[in-house]
Amino acid sequence: MSQRPRVLLSRPLLAEAMTELGKRFALQHQAIENCDAAIVTLKDTFSADFFAQLPPQSPLKIIANYAVGYDNIDLEAAQQRGIWVTNTPDVLTEATAELTLALLLNLSRRILEGDRMIRAGHWSGWEPTQLLGRGLQGKRLGLVGAGRIGQAFAHMAHRLGMSILYTSRQAKPNFEAQTQAQQVSLNTLCAQADVISIHLSGGYETHHFIHAEHFALMKPSAYLINTGRGNVIDEAALIQTLQAGLLAGAGLDVFEREPAVPEALKNSPNVVLTPHIGSATHEARLAMARLCWQNVEAALAGHRPPQALFSLP
Ligand code: GLV
Ligand code: GLV
Repeated sequence: MSQRPRVLLSRPLLAEAMTELGKRFALQHQAIENCDAAIVTLKDTFSADFFAQLPPQSPLKIIANYAVGYDNIDLEAAQQRGIWVTNTPDVLTEATAELTLALLLNLSRRILEGDRMIRAGHWSGWEPTQLLGRGLQGKRLGLVGAGRIGQAFAHMAHRLGMSILYTSRQAKPNFEAQTQAQQVSLNTLCAQADVISIHLSGGYETHHFIHAEHFALMKPSAYLINTGRGNVIDEAALIQTLQAGLLAGAGLDVFEREPAVPEALKNSPNVVLTPHIGSATHEARLAMARLCWQNVEAALAGHRPPQALFSLP
């Protein structure tokens, strides 16, 4: 038993994953500096200070992030210290795209409003103008960020009869061929889209990427959805826009200061809130765990982990 690598696991994962991890590793819950590897979540932060303070004799070889995003880890500092960092791309793409669609349909068909109406005993029967939503066919989706998740969601929207605009640093010719998506500037996207969906992964470069000037361009009939990272949106500016009636609704899975969610959002009937559950399907979470242990095993065997986020000498 003592031969098994010591692997810090910052939070318990689902039962099947725990069994598999337990077969492979001696799981630890503290003292990361004494561990060979760490499997961590986006609630665990690894700043430059963490790496600077790690004792020189620490055996730590890899931090496997149980997430596709990695704005919780200072990659440059990890690389300088010679510690691999990996993420869990691909396996949560469909799950997160499905949640994005769920948020959109909840907004466009006012599902939660209807649910609350029934539970509150306010439903007095069918009415011609009750809870009118908006159809999606023929409407324009604007993707802010066209990575794997954004593209997967766009394919779903395309099948629902929506046309696609997107912003991206690079053109995506295959994506354009498959969905007739059109690359546009962020301002054009904000002004023309009926649904604006954020698929940026957060971090310093995209902090408040969508701010008051963008909200001012959006159609009052538009819906905004964010399943990327909370701080990509200036949340205060979003609240002002909603309160002024200049946006039809918002579907938010991520927030600027999780788990804090502003009261103004909780009190808005046309806002749908989910607690950062983009990847929270049984299938995705198990596949994410598998990627984590495979990356840890590779690093501990002296190989480049398959999902390494940078190279090491
Ligand atoms: C979740 O937000 C993730 O990055 O996997
Ligand atoms: C990453 O952020 C992705 O879109 O898969």
